[in-house]
This record gives sequence, structure tokens and C-alpha cells, in this order.
Amino acid sequence: MKNYNQTVLITGATSGIGLELARLFAADNYNMVLVSRDEQNLNNVAANLQNMGAGRIIIIPKDLSIPNAAAEIFEITQQQNIHVDVLVNDAGVGEYGYFTETNLEKELGIIQLNISSMIHLTKLYLREMMAYDGPGKILQLASVASYQPSPMLAVYAATKAFILSFSDAIAYELKDSHVKVTSLIPNATDTDFFHKAGMEHTKAAQNNPEDPAIVAQIGYDALLKGEQHAYAPGVRQLAAVSSILSNQNVAMLVDKQMQPAEQR
Ligand SMILES: NC(=O)c1ccc[n+]([C@@H]2O[C@H](COP(=O)([O-])OP(=O)(O)OC[C@H]3O[C@@H](n4cnc5c(N)ncnc54)[C@H](OP(=O)(O)O)[C@@H]3O)[C@@H](O)[C@H]2O)c1
Repeated sequence: MKNYNQTVLITGATSGIGLELARLFAADNYNMVLVSRDEQNLNNVAANLQNMGAGRIIIIPKDLSIPNAAAEIFEITQQQNIHVDVLVNDAGVGEYGYFTETNLEKELGIIQLNISSMIHLTKLYLREMMAYDGPGKILQLASVASYQPSPMLAVYAATKAFILSFSDAIAYELKDSHVKVTSLIPNATDTDFFHKAGMEHTKAAQNNPEDPAIVAQIGYDALLKGEQHAYAPGVRQLAAVSSILSNQNVAMLVDKQMQPAEQR
């Protein structure tokens, strides 16, 4: 497939699911705008994606936990006359621990990254896509946590519930338009997420996490087909169970997964 006339902007493109998504877009020859915080990592990833077949690549090192980062990214793409056909809101982090003990500044940063910057980027690029003739696509990173109030990961799970609710609502608003919104809904996936969240020792992290390449492929395929939801293996069943249990019982089950894994 030659997509040199199509541009994808991916936040969180340097690691985990975002990196695997970036590889899929590169192999299909998209032009790419890559966003994360670490400039060196962005340069290394860009060189790699170029070798895989990507078209023009630009990197934008930005911290999306800082207000206005999204507006600055949009401004840069406007100045460079880049029309974004596909927006991938992948960057997201969590913070493990009792809410009474976790760091408030970090959690407000998580809300800024997972929610506010995602909303801001979606607003700006969606308006641009709507004004443009060609098809527009947006991929949102939800989570199995979107369905689960999660003790020890309370703020993160609530941001993911927000993302799925918001994305489903705008997908409906856009149902008769040329722009489609897809939510990718992973289960636990083998990335740096658990390390960054300080929860590598938990059952949730160690219970056979999914390969991020498989998760990314599921999201990529659904995005290209314009499907609203892309479920990683097992998520549909967990979502169904969560929907029939009370939030209290879901929280009790999730809490068990948040406990330390048995020593092997
Ligand atoms: N892994 C899982 O089990 C799992 C399950 C469900 C959903 N998800 C979701 O999948 C998405 C990707 O997570 P992942 O598991 O692939 O994690 P990951 O391997 O830690 O990758 C996170 C990416 O986001 C970037 N990032 C982090 N903080 C940022 C910030 N403040 N500003 C800009 N970029 C930032 C990171 O680069 P820098 O650190 O260099 O900025 C990195 O490229 C997240 O939205 C996560 O919630 C993950």
C-alpha cells in the first residue's frame, strides 16, 4: 500500500502500543508526525520507521502533561502545512497506589495527558478533518480499565472511562460524516506502562500480558475499517462481566489483581 499522500500523527509513538502502531503506519508508507517527550528516542524511532518505508517524518518533542502542549503541536503542523488524516491519541500513563498516598501533582499531570491534551488534540484535528474532503480517522487508546473502577489505579482508570465515553459519544455524532473514531481497548499489555506506573510487582502486570504488536494490529485493522471498537483478546468478556456486576464488586475483583503476584 502506498500512502505517501496520507499523514498520521501519533502521540506516544516511541514505546509500547504506540510504537507498534507507528511501525504499521510506516510499513504502509504514511507520512508521520511523531510526538513524545524524549527527543533522542524520537530521532531513533524516526530513523527506524524511515527504513521500514515511512514517507516524510517529523518529530515533535512535547510533554502533553503540560497545558497548551496540544495547541503548540497543532501550531507546528499548521506552520508546516501538514494536513493530518489520521490522529492517534496513544500517549497515556498511570500511577499505582492508594489515592490517599499518591502524588497529587503527578495525578493532575495524568489527567492533563490522558484527558485534557487528548480532548484538545481531538478538537483541533477533528475540526480540520471535517473541513477537508478526504476521509479522517481518529484512534483513541481506551482500556479494559474503562469498564472497571480500579482500586490502586483510581485516577488512571477514571481517565480511561472518560476516554471511552467521550469517544463513543463523538463517534455517534460523526456517524454520518466522513470522519470515524475508533477506540482501541487493550487488556494488560507487555509494555513499559507497568514499570512507569510503579506496579510491575502486581498480578495485573504479571498475568500473561498481551504482546503490544498484536494489540496494535487489532487497533490498526479496526481503524482502517472505520469500526468504533477494537477489542484486544479477552476484553469483550471482561467488559460483559463488568456490565452485570455492581461497581463495588468490580472494584473488589480488580483489587485482587492489584495485589503483589506470588513469588516464583
Ligand atoms: N500496557 C497496558 O497494559 C495498557 C492497557 C490498556 C491501555 N493502555 C494504554 O495504551 C497507551 C500506550 O501505553 P503503553 O502501554 O504503550 O505505554 P508505554 O510503553 O509506557 O508508552 C507510552 C508512550 O507515551 C509517551 N508519553 C508518556 N508520557 C508522555 C507525556 N507526558 N507527553 C508526551 N508523551 C508521553 C512515552 O514516551 P516518553 O516517556 O518519552 O514521553 C511513550 O512513547 C496508553 O494510553 C495506555 O493507557 C495500555
